[in-house]
Order: sequence, then structure tokens, then C-alpha cells
Amino acid sequence: MTENQVTMTDPRKHDYFYDEASKNLRTNIRFSAAGTKTIVVTSCFPNEGKSDIIFQLALELGNIGKRVLVVDADIRKSSYISRYRVRKRIYGLSEYLSGQAGLGDIVYRTNFTGVDMIFSGPVAPNPSELLEQEAFTELIHTMREKYDYVLIDTPPIANMADAAIVAKQCDGAVLVIENERVSRRVALKAKNQLAASGCRIIGAVLNKVDMEHDRYYSKYGSYGSYYGYGYGHKKKQDGDK
Ligand SMILES: Nc1ncnc2c1ncn2[C@@H]1O[C@H](COP(=O)(O)OP(=O)(O)OP(=O)(O)O)[C@@H](O)[C@H]1O
Ligand SMILES: [Mg+2]
Repeated sequence: MTENQVTMTDPRKHDYFYDEASKNLRTNIRFSAAGTKTIVVTSCFPNEGKSDIIFQLALELGNIGKRVLVVDADIRKSSYISRYRVRKRIYGLSEYLSGQAGLGDIVYRTNFTGVDMIFSGPVAPNPSELLEQEAFTELIHTMREKYDYVLIDTPPIANMADAAIVAKQCDGAVLVIENERVSRRVALKAKNQLAASGCRIIGAVLNKVDMEHDRYYSKYGSYGSYYGYGYGHKKKQDGDK
């Protein structure tokens, strides 16, 4: 589908809990309503773990033979290039949306089975405006036909319109919520913003749960659409270095 190739190096270290939760999320997505192919992932605040979850989910879907496209629609900040140590001039989404690159220029085949990538491209001064263009709608429609899943990374939804704009074009949304950080009121507001865009909310991921301490969340699947998602890291104890 694409001639462009890119090598991504995965520096992340997950543990058993994270990887099991990712497989669980994959299962829940596969069993969500038929035809759920384009999925926006957002959160209320920065740093709640969206990009990490998207990439891991893409790898898990690729591992079972699905064709997956990850679209980094966070054109306020390009995190994938540095995180995955991409050493190549990349043409990204912002360049396509501003007419500086064609669709064929921005889709990259990665070294991970089944996983293709559209990077965000250079930071643009008017991200919401770019995402509202017909060119973005066209991109999603075209890619929807070519892949089993299109996973779209966005900036946090609390203060920026981007995620809600992207959600309008998607079949489903996943809301990532960092444990002990997001109030019920803020999470509900995000949920309502997504719902107002007409996008179905597939579920929420409760991230950064301390699996050693939060036994309540360690039974995946017992809580409807809410999945515990943690690295299983220990909280610092008194006396720890
Ligand atoms: N379950 C987890 N447990 C511990 N640390 C995590 C977990 N998930 C993500 N992190 C770490 O939290 C940081 C933020 O993750 P990530 O970049 O995926 O968040 P993000 O929501 O995409 O952030 P942004 O809004 O800035 O794009 C990273 O350093 C990542 O390694
Ligand atoms: Mg991110």
C-alpha cells in the first residue's frame, strides 16, 4: 500500500500487567460493534498515557494479523519521532493537511508486523483549523477502506477542540483516564464532549494503576468497559532509594 518505510525502535519497558491489559483492550475493541474501525483515543489532560496505549494496541492487533494504521493527529507536538528514535526525514499529517505533501507521501510501513504510521509532521500554528478541513475527512475515509483498524492519537480534550473534531470522523472513541488524577466531573465533561461529536464511546481505560496496591482493579474485565491499565510499578516506600 505504501512504498515508504521507517524503522522504529521501541524503548518502552512494560510488564506482565500492562501487556495483559493491552490484550484485553484489543479483545474488547474486536468485540465492540461491527464496523468499528476508526478509533480516536484521547484523555482529559496531557501525559495520561494515550500514545503508549495506542502504540501497544497497534502492536497487539498487528500480532494477530490485523492491518493497523496509527495516525498521530496531535499536531501540536510530535512525540513518536523522538520516542521511537526515527532517524529519517518524515512527511507528516500537518504537511498533508496544508497541501505540502500528498497522501502517498505520509503513510509509512513500520518494522512492526501489520503496523503502518502517519506521523504528525512539523508543529502547525492552527491545528484545529487543519483538522477541520475536508482533506482530513477524506484521509480517514480512504484509510478506513484500506486497514482493519485506524487508531488516532489526539491532544487532551479538556482545553482543546482537536480531539472532538477528530471524533466526528470516527466510529468509536476510547477515553484514557489516569488513576487518581482525573475527577469524576472532568471525566464526565470529556465523555460528554465526545458524545456531542456523535462518536460512540467504546470504553475508558483507567491507566497508571499501581497493580501492587490496587487489588480492586487487578481483575480485568469485571468492571464493564473500564479496564485497569498499569505498569505494576511499586509505589515508593519510605526508605527506598
Ligand atoms: N501504565 C503506565 N504506568 C506508568 N507509566 C506510564 C503508563 N502509561 C504511560 N506511562 C508513562 O507516562 C508518560 C506519558 O505517556 P504518553 O506519552 O503515552 O501519554 P500521552 O497521554 O500520550 O501524553 P500527551 O498528552 O503529552 O501526548 C510516558 O513517560 C509513559 O512512559
Ligand atoms: Mg501523546
